[in-house]
Amino acid sequence: MDGETTKTPVSPAPEALDGTQKEEEADHVMSEIHLGCPPKFSGSVVSHFTFSLPPGVEYIEGKYEYQVLDDSKLNQEVSLDDDGDLALPRRNKHPKDKFDVAIQHNITSSIPKVGLQVWRAELALSDFVLHKMFTSSEFNGIVAVELGAGTGLVGMLLARVAETVFLTDHGVEILENCASNVHLNARLLPTKTSVYVRELDWKASWPPKQDNCLACESYAWSQSEFEELERASLLVAADVIYSDDLTDALFRTLERLMSHGIEKVLYLALEKRYNFSIDELDVVANGYSHFRNYLRDETDDAENKEVENGSLRAFVGTRIDLTMIPQYAVNYNRGHDLELWKIRYAPTI
Ligand SMILES: C[S@@+](CC[C@H](N)C(=O)[O-])C[C@H]1O[C@@H](n2cnc3c(N)ncnc32)[C@H](O)[C@@H]1O
Repeated sequence: MDGETTKTPVSPAPEALDGTQKEEEADHVMSEIHLGCPPKFSGSVVSHFTFSLPPGVEYIEGKYEYQVLDDSKLNQEVSLDDDGDLALPRRNKHPKDKFDVAIQHNITSSIPKVGLQVWRAELALSDFVLHKMFTSSEFNGIVAVELGAGTGLVGMLLARVAETVFLTDHGVEILENCASNVHLNARLLPTKTSVYVRELDWKASWPPKQDNCLACESYAWSQSEFEELERASLLVAADVIYSDDLTDALFRTLERLMSHGIEKVLYLALEKRYNFSIDELDVVANGYSHFRNYLRDETDDAENKEVENGSLRAFVGTRIDLTMIPQYAVNYNRGHDLELWKIRYAPTI
């Protein structure tokens, strides 16, 4: 990821690992968002992710505004200067045509701690969210929730225009890291926006209670925050499809969230991961197929028949063509295995 301009190691990799640690390291995974890091470095770093604004877009008082350059206005401004020379109108220059988000993240992690890393789907979702924010007012003043937020990048981008953003994940280390990122980027976030880092474990009982997370009291929900979830109109999630039981737990949580309060839409970015299957003697994306089984495609007649026959799928999914979304995150490689889905909850009873 070339878009990371500065990297500051926060905690060095352990010099010597004991037996257990070595074993754990064998199970370590690495996202591709690590270029430019010191060689063999596996600890925590702060990277600056740069996002560029399209021409004419400016961030003013908690909103992105698109400035239409009006020709007639420009013409009126043409005049002669004191020396009698033609004074050409200056285009309103936008010095802030890019901005940086500082993200503290790991270069590698164990599988339970993948939320300490930044994954490519998070950057693709960032592009999508920014594109919406640059071209419409749809996300202005809303309540939004990021699920499996990890480092919290997308949620923090949303916080630039939203009224309230909940960055949710599970496990104290991931939540603490996410909270550090909110702190690191305080200057980017309007004071009127409320940003909460909260524990939302898809496998835990519902509703999430304060005593769900004894070790991380400050990430537990208050009653009023929990009620505010009903007012959320937007859910976002990136790279949360990689294990079938987690996908099941995620969709259970989505059903709980999306069947209450005002209508919600989920934008979910995923990385399609392929494995060789001995059973099928082929390369397959099983995790992806499991995810697709949750979705009904309203335009697909065969699927509609299945629904009539009793296999009810409560979620309607529409794939968004990522090639139509400009890349605002500087220099990351989208590849062909990233997908973006718009998902609604629409039970057919
Ligand atoms: C591959 S990471 C993606 C993180 C971030 N969205 C990104 O793309 O950079 C998967 C995320 O799902 C979270 N997750 C895994 N199991 C979870 C659970 N039971 N409840 C809530 N979040 C979970 C992980 O902690 C992690 O943050």
